[in-house]
Amino acid sequence: MTPPTSAATPASGVHKLWGGRFAGGPAVEMDALNRSIGTDIRLWPHDIRLSKAWALALWNAGVLTLDESEAISKGLDAVAERFAAGESPIATDEDVHTMIDRLLHDAAGSVASKLHTGRSRNDQVATATRLWTMSACGALDDAVRLLQEVLLARATEMADALMPAYTHLQRAQPVSAAHWLLSHFWALDRDRQRLAQAQRAASVLPLGSGAIAGSAFPVSRVLLKESLGFHAVSPNSIDAVGDRDFIADLLYTVTMIGVHVSRIAEDGIVYGSSEFGFLKFGDKFSTGSSMMPQKRNPDALEIARGFPARALGDLVSLVGTLKGLPSGYNKDLQDDKRALFDAVDTVLLVLPAVAGTFAELRFDRARMRAAVTAGMMATDLADYLVRKGATFRESHGAVGSLVRQAEEAGVELDALPVEAFAKAHALFGADARDALGAAASVAHREVEGGTGPNAIAEQLEKARAAVMPRAEPPGNAIEIR
Ligand code: ARG
Repeated sequence: MTPPTSAATPASGVHKLWGGRFAGGPAVEMDALNRSIGTDIRLWPHDIRLSKAWALALWNAGVLTLDESEAISKGLDAVAERFAAGESPIATDEDVHTMIDRLLHDAAGSVASKLHTGRSRNDQVATATRLWTMSACGALDDAVRLLQEVLLARATEMADALMPAYTHLQRAQPVSAAHWLLSHFWALDRDRQRLAQAQRAASVLPLGSGAIAGSAFPVSRVLLKESLGFHAVSPNSIDAVGDRDFIADLLYTVTMIGVHVSRIAEDGIVYGSSEFGFLKFGDKFSTGSSMMPQKRNPDALEIARGFPARALGDLVSLVGTLKGLPSGYNKDLQDDKRALFDAVDTVLLVLPAVAGTFAELRFDRARMRAAVTAGMMATDLADYLVRKGATFRESHGAVGSLVRQAEEAGVELDALPVEAFAKAHALFGADARDALGAAASVAHREVEGGTGPNAIAEQLEKARAAVMPRAEPPGNAIEIR
């Protein structure tokens, strides 16, 4: 291990945003640790956009002439073209802001040196990261909605199919398959509300805060806010440059999306096993085994099931970074983007794969229906007695004794003789066994949010309304990359 003493002399022509007060350059080891260009290069569209707004604000504040402001703006357009064409960073580009500054000097000449007046990378990176996050929320909303649409389409198709609902993974009561599918739809609906909140949290403008104390030039922050699509201006420059709560909000939201998707995935995996056999996976989102020729594995769902661990890791790493940090900007914050990008990139791979898996799988209605056994209607049998005037406690006990008898005899509840019913409770009539029908059980549950056919039709209606495109698109104009 070479000791980190090799101070590299600043090579002539190295483009840096700082350095005047240093006699020598940083050690190569320092450069290697400090460089963030590998992570933050993707902020370029947002950094260019905010820089153009800043050039205009500087003209407005009387710092730049109109010609200078326009020259910088045109130069930034030329830089954007180079990025769009795949421009690679050079070894000395510390971060995306440095790289853009270097390319702007190439494109616009010395006037480029005026752009950084009154701003700092501290308010710049906070602004660019917020713009990226606002845009990411739009992309995430689209991806979550796509999965909801698939669940809704499958629920519509399966509304009249019955299956067991499970508690403790033990057969509990019959439900419409649509009820099960839509249970996941509504969890995703809450995630979309969280996304809207996370987007609003990101939509506060830090630009104009400078390094810590605010810009010394009279830039209009309101104009900056309007032109960049933020809903508010940060009220305190110290807070603005060190605030990453909006990232924590989004990482929590992504973690919850992950948790919900993992539960959808687990249901799919379990119901797709040979033991359940409720569904069969298609070719597009399953894989084979290198050894066992017969295998078809639901890998997309398994990766989705694992994902929230990673998202939670990103959330914990971000919140851990923020905890105990001195006020204002600290370089620890540079790591915020690694966690943010990792969680967002990965969930944007997971969501379409889960949507694809559910779009192509085939349900086996007969297997689902066959799993609905008479014992699952034990509650309905108790309810039958309640309707005849018994208390529920008493009915529960009577039906419990019938369940025990059936279990001992090794038969289903509906196979017990009529006399057994009459013996268990005097209020059992000749029609008692009708209460053990699955369709009747479901038909009784027309309460709002229940699994009765009319309640399901209403729920499907509500779900359709929930995935209608919103009046205002949640994202801003720039695509995330
Ligand atoms: N690359 C840095 C980051 O992402 C930009 C801000 C640098 N600010 C500073 N004072 N060195 O946090």
